[in-house]
Amino acid sequence: MCGIIGYVGDRSAAEILISGLSHLEYRGYDSSGVALMNDKEVNIYKAPGKLINLIEILKTKQNICAKSKIGIGHIRWATHGLPTTQNAHPHTCNCKNLTLVHNGIIENYQELKKELEQLGARFSSQTDTEVAAHLIAYEYGKTKNLLKAMLNATKKIKGAFAFCAIHKNEPDKIVVAKRNAPLIIGIGQEENFIASDIPAIIEYTKKAIYLSDYQVGVIKKDSIEIYNDNGTLVPNKIEYLPFEAVAISKMGYKHFMLKEIHEQGDVVRNILAGKLLSPEKNVVLDEFKLTKKEINNIKRIQIIACGTSYHAGLVGKYILEKFAKIPVDVEASSEYIYRDTIADKNTLAIGISQSGETADTITAIKQIKEQESHVAIITNRVDSTLARLSDSLLPVNAGIEVSVAATKSYIAQLISLYLLTIYLFEQKGLEQYKEEIRTLKQELMELPSKIEAIVENTTNIQEIAKKYSCYKDFIFIARGINYPNALEGALKLKEISYINATGYSAGELKHGPIAMLDNNMPVLALLNTGVVYDKVLSNCEEAKARQAKLIAVTNYIEPKDVPLFDDIINVPLGSETIGPAINIVVLQLLAYYIAEYLGKDVDQPRNLAKSVTVE
Ligand code: G6P
Repeated sequence: MCGIIGYVGDRSAAEILISGLSHLEYRGYDSSGVALMNDKEVNIYKAPGKLINLIEILKTKQNICAKSKIGIGHIRWATHGLPTTQNAHPHTCNCKNLTLVHNGIIENYQELKKELEQLGARFSSQTDTEVAAHLIAYEYGKTKNLLKAMLNATKKIKGAFAFCAIHKNEPDKIVVAKRNAPLIIGIGQEENFIASDIPAIIEYTKKAIYLSDYQVGVIKKDSIEIYNDNGTLVPNKIEYLPFEAVAISKMGYKHFMLKEIHEQGDVVRNILAGKLLSPEKNVVLDEFKLTKKEINNIKRIQIIACGTSYHAGLVGKYILEKFAKIPVDVEASSEYIYRDTIADKNTLAIGISQSGETADTITAIKQIKEQESHVAIITNRVDSTLARLSDSLLPVNAGIEVSVAATKSYIAQLISLYLLTIYLFEQKGLEQYKEEIRTLKQELMELPSKIEAIVENTTNIQEIAKKYSCYKDFIFIARGINYPNALEGALKLKEISYINATGYSAGELKHGPIAMLDNNMPVLALLNTGVVYDKVLSNCEEAKARQAKLIAVTNYIEPKDVPLFDDIINVPLGSETIGPAINIVVLQLLAYYIAEYLGKDVDQPRNLAKSVTVE
C-alpha cells in the first residue's frame, strides 16, 4: 500500500512528485507529503486528507519548489497511526538530515524503536517508518555514507518495505531499497525517477529498472547504480514499461469506475483475440505451459485470491469442476497462509490478482510454489511480482484500472477462467458437455455486444438506484454459478456507498439471515434461467412473505412470477454458464449509481486502497 515517488534531474521536483502522486492515489489517499532538496536544505511539506491539501500548501512555497530539483514524495494508506500530518511521510530523524518515505510494514519496529530510544532517538509519530528513518540515520552516523547506511539498516529490518531516502549531506542522490514491495526506477535523459508503480512516471519515460528484493540503488540525475545486499555493484537490467499515458485519463466520464464499466465490452474482445477464433475451433492458450500429459495428471486445482479476484475464483470453481472435471478449492489468500496446506506437483495453483501485488496472495503463492505445484497467475499486470512468480502467466489485458472498486478486471478474470476451462476440457479430450462448450464459446464471442447493450441503456438501473439509495441495508441472493456474483454485487455496493450489503446463497437465507428481513431490507435476487430458477424463486417468495422489498436481476422471468417483484432489471438472455459475466455489469452499475446519487467519492472510497501490499 502507499505510493512512493522520487525525482532527480533539472526540473522542479515538486511538479513531478505531485503529478506522480496523483497517479498513485489508488494506492492510498489518507495523507501525503513531499521532501524537496536543494544544495542547502531539505524542506518537508505534509497534509492530511486528499492530495489536493498538499497541493494547496505547495502553492504557497513557489520559491522553494522552483529551486528544488531533487525530491521524494508519498501518499499514505495508514497502517500504524491515524492519518494525521504527524504520521504522514516523509519522516526524519533527530537532526533532520535524513528524510525517508516508505511503503510496507516493518514487523520488528517496536524492538528497533526501543533500541533507538536508548541511543537517544526522539519520535514524533506513531509510524513504523519513523523508526526506519532513525535507524538509517544512526547507521549514517557510523558510516557517513547513505548507501552504506541503507545497506546496514535494511539488514536489521524485518517485514516489507520500499524505501526512498535523501540526506542533506549528499544532495545529489536518492537511495532506494526494497523487500516484498514494488519499486521501479524510471530512466530519463539527465533525470531519473522512482515510483512504486508505472502510472506515476509513464508520461516521462518508458525505460526502467525493476529493483529486486535485497537490492539497494543509488540514483543521481545522470547515473543509476544498483548494489546487492553485500554492497557489490550489479549490472543494470533495463526493461520497457507497458502502459500508455492516455490509459489513465477519464475520457469524459464522471468517474473512472463508470469509464471502466463501459470499457468491458472491449476488454472481453481483447482477451478473446487470438485465443477464441470460432466456436468450432479449439481455444489457443499458449501461455499455459503444462503439456497434455501434465494436464491429465492434475488431480486438483487450488485457486488463491482476495476481494473481487476471489469472487472470480469462485465462479471458476463452478466451471472448472463441471467441464474440466477437476476438483477445485478456492481460498482467500489471507486464510491460505499460516496454516499447513496440502499441495503437490499434481496440484495446479491458480493465483488471481488484478494488481499482481497483493501481499497475501504473493505469500500464499510462494508457499504453494515450495510444494512444487505448477503456478498459473491470472493478472492484469504482467510486470508485477505475482507475474514474476508464475510458471504460466495468463494476462487479462484489461488496461490500467484506476477506480478502487474493481470492475473490468473482474470480467477479464472471468473470461480468463472460461478460456482456461475450455482449454483444459479440450486438451483432456472430454466428451460430457461438448455441446455446452460449443455454446459457451459462441456466447463468449457474443458477450461484448451484450455488455454494451446493458451499459448503453441504464435508465431503469438509475431509477432503481435512486429509489433504493435511502436504504441502510441490502441482501443479495443467488444460487449456483451466480452465487459468487451475489457476493461481488454486495461487495461493490458496500465498497463505494458504505451501505451494509451482504451476499448470501439463496438457499442459506432461511438458515439465519431471514431473521433480518422486513420492509426496510431490500433483497436483490439474481434470477436466471437454468436448474436453480425455481429454487431462487421459492427463496424470493420466502423473503416477500417477510415484507422485504424484492428486486430481480433476470435474463428471463415467467410472466406469472413478475408480480412477486417490486422492481425488475432485465439483462440479455444467455446460458446459465455465461450468466455471471452478464449480470455483474448490472450490479456494478447499480452500485455505481447508488453511490453517485449519495454523493460518495466513487473512485476513492474511504479506507480502501486498490493495491493492498501489506498482509
Ligand atoms: C483490494 C481492492 C479490491 C481487490 C482486492 C484484491 O481490496 O480494493 O478491489 O479486489 O484488493 O486485489 P488484487 O489486485 O489482488 O486483485
